[in-house]
Amino acid sequence: MDRLSSLPGLHLLVNLSPPYRLAILLVSTLLVAKIVSALFFRSAQKKPPRVRTWPLIGGVRKFMKGPINMLREEYPRLGSVFTVKVLHRNITFLLGPEESVHFFKAPESELSQQEVYQYNVPTFGPGVVFDVDYSVRMEQFRFFSESLRVSSLKSYVQHMVYEAENFFTKWGDEGIVDLKSELEQLITLTASRCLLGKEVRDQLFQNVSDLFHDLDNGMLPISVLLPYLPIPAHRRRDKARKQLAEIFSNIIQNRRASGKKEADMLQAFIDSKYRSSGRYLSDNEITGMLIASLFAGQHTSSITSTWTGAHLLHKQFLGPVLDEQREVMSRHGDKLDYDILAEMDVLYRAIKEALRLHPPLILLLRYSHKDFVVKNREGNQYTVPKGHVVATSPAFANRLPYVYKDPDSYDPDRFAPGREEDKAAGAFSYISFGGGRHGCMGEPFAYMQIKTIWSHLFRNFELELIPPFPEIDWDAMVVGPKGKVMVRYKRRALTALPIS
Ligand code: HEM
Ligand SMILES: *[C@@H]1O[C@H](CO)[C@@H](O)[C@H](O)[C@H]1NC(C)=O
Ligand SMILES: *[C@@H]1O[C@H](CO)[C@@H](O)[C@H](O)[C@H]1NC(C)=O
Repeated sequence: MDRLSSLPGLHLLVNLSPPYRLAILLVSTLLVAKIVSALFFRSAQKKPPRVRTWPLIGGVRKFMKGPINMLREEYPRLGSVFTVKVLHRNITFLLGPEESVHFFKAPESELSQQEVYQYNVPTFGPGVVFDVDYSVRMEQFRFFSESLRVSSLKSYVQHMVYEAENFFTKWGDEGIVDLKSELEQLITLTASRCLLGKEVRDQLFQNVSDLFHDLDNGMLPISVLLPYLPIPAHRRRDKARKQLAEIFSNIIQNRRASGKKEADMLQAFIDSKYRSSGRYLSDNEITGMLIASLFAGQHTSSITSTWTGAHLLHKQFLGPVLDEQREVMSRHGDKLDYDILAEMDVLYRAIKEALRLHPPLILLLRYSHKDFVVKNREGNQYTVPKGHVVATSPAFANRLPYVYKDPDSYDPDRFAPGREEDKAAGAFSYISFGGGRHGCMGEPFAYMQIKTIWSHLFRNFELELIPPFPEIDWDAMVVGPKGKVMVRYKRRALTALPIS
């Protein structure tokens, strides 16, 4: 007997008569098919690899050291899809343009924002955004998008230009300033004019700024986990939210009574109506929507203008930006408006590149309501179970070396025609503004604002960054440059290129 047929099963098979042999072969083939498919099925059900963490507290310690540090450590070990446990939550990261497609495109019934962004509710107030059902939220998002469409933007830009011109008259002929705090102030003024309206900008600026300050300080890392924890910062937040409601209620009533319309976001919300019920927004809803806009747009924009300056004043890329200003001036003189700003492609790319390296929102989150399958970069297929928090990270994904050449260097030309590195690997290669279903609605507003500021500065001042180049403040809720960003300035008029 040979070695094989000494195995009991085979021995039996070899010694059986042909019809039995056939039957048993058939049965065993079916069995094998079943086992193979079961194995295959199991591999399709394989869950993403997990970050090794401490029992009980899970990845809290790793997370608190900074989520980006954790991603940089784990990505080389675990690949582009993995799960980390933080307290009782499983957070699954999808890192890369292919991996994050589902994150950005999935319908609300599969991946939703409401659960993970709940901590905003006490700040924005009741009845808006993450405090309402999806159908109402959809309508409210329509109000945001209508208030930010091009026809409105054109009049917002006039306010942006006015505020910038006015603001920098208070600078001397030369001096040294903290650019970060200067631009924060300017953007607060502009946001208050364009979004909150004339009344706040002209009469109640300090009151409202102070109240927003309390709202801001009431959003701490701990607030994300325990938004209603009775701590002084949360009490001040709640008080400020109530006072803002009173202030806006007065303004709204006066506006309605006067019958006068202004060109600002407040007016857009006053005039908005729910399609489902035909009802106008309540004063409290309007207040909440305005707060949400400021939270979405203010720190993000001011941080981005500061990084843009810090990078450009490093000199190497300033030349082409100044040339573009001179060239635009040769056609339009000193004037700035929506269409003229839209011509500035070099400045656009300079801002976009600052934002690639320094996205202020470093983590985007969703809650998963349904299992889904995702492939990592190595081709392994995983099932992400329902109940996981799903995350992606602009700060990490924007620097992937297979998407961006020399990813840590500031190089605005990577977006120029011919290179367009953000397009080669797919739609979700550049995610500073998110993308897909919930992509930022304020992106054009933000670009207009930042272009206005830097056009004005370059046309009227010679500027120089005083080293060191700023570090990144990873501990902030909205991530920006750490500490002061000192700049030396000297007034001078940029001359238009002679028309040839
Ligand atoms: C440089 C400035 C800005 C950056 C980097 C930025 C970034 C983002 C990101 C990453 C998202 C997606 C969040 C997610 O997927 O979970 C988002 C959404 C949003 N942003 Fe912005 N934003 C900026 C300025 C603004 C401004 C100025 C406004 C309004 C005045 C605004 C309004 C919104 C709104 C309404 C959404 C929600 C869209 C939705 O969920 O459907 N943003 N933004
Ligand atoms: C997290 O994942 C682990 C391992 O797959 C699982 O046992 C646990 O139930 C999950 N927890 C939640 C809250 O989904
Ligand atoms: C604004 O602040 C001033 C000075 O603190 C105060 O007198 C005034 O009552 C405030 N106005 C409103 C509407 O809260």
